[in-house]
Amino acid sequence: MDINIKTLSDLPGTAAAILQKFPKDRVFMFFAEMSAGKTTFIKAICAELGVMDLVSSPTYSIVNEYNSAKEIIYHFDFYRIKSESEAFDIGFEEYIFSGNYCLIEWPEKIKNLWPPHYLKIEIQIVSEAERLITVTPE
Ligand SMILES: Nc1ncnc2c1ncn2[C@@H]1O[C@H](COP(=O)(O)OP(=O)(O)OP(=O)(O)O)[C@@H](O)[C@H]1O
Ligand SMILES: [Mg+2]
Repeated sequence: MDINIKTLSDLPGTAAAILQKFPKDRVFMFFAEMSAGKTTFIKAICAELGVMDLVSSPTYSIVNEYNSAKEIIYHFDFYRIKSESEAFDIGFEEYIFSGNYCLIEWPEKIKNLWPPHYLKIEIQIVSEAERLITVTPE
């Protein structure tokens, strides 16, 4: 599934389309260069899931938890970890197998902990406001 984003205002509709097309997926891994829009897109997905909490990348921890009426959502950012053991120590595998949404920035940092099945979301920068989002079930 390839989606062209022309402006930020395309993100809510795109988030809705992905959730609708992949209703059973719970682990979403976001692959993109720095500042491409991972956190911004995760905010749109959380809004679509009904999260009213403030969504922002975990700064002092590795994971944030948000709640909506129906869902629990875990938002991970592994950018700052120095070793995979930090992910292991917070119980990453329990989160992954919890059946709740796990939205993961910088999954490249925890390659050995990837689950066998996940939704791969690649974000490429086309121009200042344009992005190409590619979604692949793995
Ligand atoms: N179409 C778009 N989709 C997503 N972000 C966009 C888009 N157009 C512009 N932006 C801007 O690009 C920036 C993306 O920042 P964001 O923090 O989401 O990136 P990130 O990939 O999470 O960065 P990091 O690598 O630091 O985690 C924001 O300032 C956002 O407003
Ligand atoms: Mg981010």
